[in-house]
Amino acid sequence: MTVMAATTLSESERTRLLDAAREVILHAYAPYSGVKVGAAVLTARGRVFSGVNVENASYGLTLCAERAAIAAAVAGEGPDMRIKAIAVVSDRPGPFAPCGACRQVITEFGPEALVIFPGEEGLVETPISELLPYAFCLQK
Ligand code: THU
Repeated sequence: MTVMAATTLSESERTRLLDAAREVILHAYAPYSGVKVGAAVLTARGRVFSGVNVENASYGLTLCAERAAIAAAVAGEGPDMRIKAIAVVSDRPGPFAPCGACRQVITEFGPEALVIFPGEEGLVETPISELLPYAFCLQK
């Protein structure tokens, strides 16, 4: 059995990631829910890409901040982009965990990614496999 080493973040990586997610919130487009969300991806190459939620009058077309950040990271680094960690924050107090669709997309690019988000009592930092066990996958 292969045992993978758990992903860990340095204090400066964590700060960089959270700062990027918090800074970008101002750009969120959330006129319908009023909930502004910012996300930032730290790639395996050490770069940070951010994204915001982008809502639409046709509500179901709304893009979550995490998936916007992941799309920016793929555009920046190409199809072999891998997520080391991803942070998500909102402008609301209280817990804000990534939705199910975002968990699936995070898994695609970072099956061992660390996910940071506001929990009931402060920030939670946990591997994506804890948030989405038995994730759907296809052989490439
Ligand atoms: N939202 C995100 O950006 N990420 C999530 O993981 C969950 C929800 C956004 C979508 C919508 O614009 C707003 O939060 C309220 O649902």
